[in-house]
Amino acid sequence: MGSNPYRKDFPLLQENSVIYLDNAATAQRPRQVIEAEAEFYEKYNANPLRGLYRLGMEATERLEEARETVRDFIHAPDASQIVFTGNTTGSLNLVAYSYGLSHIKAGDEILVSIMEHHSNLLPWQMVARQTGASLKFLECEPDGSLPESRLDQGFSDRTRLVAIGAVSNVTGRRAPVEEIVKRARACGAVVVLDAAQSVPHMPLDVQKLDVDFAAFSGHKLMGPMGTGVLYGKKELLEDMPPFLTGGEMIDFVSRTDAEYAPVPHKFEAGTVNGGGIWGLQAAVRYLQAAGYEAVHRRELALTALALEGLKQIPHIHVIGSDRPEEHCGILTFTVDGVHPHDVSAVLDADGIAVRAGHHCAQPFMEYLGVHSTTRASISFYNTEEEIQAFLNSAESIRRRMGYGQ
Ligand code: ALA
Repeated sequence: MGSNPYRKDFPLLQENSVIYLDNAATAQRPRQVIEAEAEFYEKYNANPLRGLYRLGMEATERLEEARETVRDFIHAPDASQIVFTGNTTGSLNLVAYSYGLSHIKAGDEILVSIMEHHSNLLPWQMVARQTGASLKFLECEPDGSLPESRLDQGFSDRTRLVAIGAVSNVTGRRAPVEEIVKRARACGAVVVLDAAQSVPHMPLDVQKLDVDFAAFSGHKLMGPMGTGVLYGKKELLEDMPPFLTGGEMIDFVSRTDAEYAPVPHKFEAGTVNGGGIWGLQAAVRYLQAAGYEAVHRRELALTALALEGLKQIPHIHVIGSDRPEEHCGILTFTVDGVHPHDVSAVLDADGIAVRAGHHCAQPFMEYLGVHSTTRASISFYNTEEEIQAFLNSAESIRRRMGYGQ
């Protein structure tokens, strides 16, 4: 695979000796993103969408330029369909509170998969509770796949909304989104795509997929924390009531009433995260310049190395597919007799950062019959040497915990 040309762009990886394998929790940021965020405050700082003086207008221009960058990134038809939020959770809650509570009725069915992150489950639990709708689950196979037979069992003529993670944050497996959209169309349901774990690894074309809503975070995409995106079909966004009300989301306010601004500003109440959003556009441009193909090639080679290595270690069990291309860089595993927190502590002692716990997916953990797991998640800026160090450390875990091997 040769040397890694991206590594030098990531200041933390230069200055800190950590072997960072928690990229599914949050990515590292390249210098270009850190500098863009600072650039906003150094050169353009005024409250976007408000000041009519030159600096204020420049701040607004940066916000709208970032919106156009994101539109292009996910192939949305129009920049007005890009709403900036705080994170994926914020985007999904916006859809749940605004679309869900105004469109879902008693007797309707909301369909989610058993693998969802809590962010794409709890908002729908809330909608079901408040509207009298039922929450149904798409069950998966033990390897995290969702074959047609499972889809057939989940859909009914009462399904009105399907909320699905494009890629599982536990197994890294991609959901059959095209098949799900086809079935949703047949029963008149809208599709909400949680793309938080997919956009760092693969293109998102919202028109080709024909999803109704798509949500993702900036921070998993190398952008700043506190930035998120919601895409929605225009007619749906226009028909939805605002989620949060307040400053800069109105056209006119009287003592007792208000006319709301057109989309997307109707959904962006309060001062936006100007610096963060300018950093997010830099992250998108960085990823576009690197190219998904190169990112995928590197991540696949590193994932294959790590997966093959883990399979060779007795008492380690990787959850999900046997094939590295079905992991999106995510390798979740258990070690016989060793609690994931201890696994993480041993790896940490060797300078390796992974996530241990339930990964905000407790129903999926229950389905898998485990309380928690350890998850290593790989990015294109990781190196073969780092994966080798991780495997050496993983191989020593049981010994260091007092087992014979
Ligand atoms: N959703 C992030 C993860 O899976 C935080 O780790």
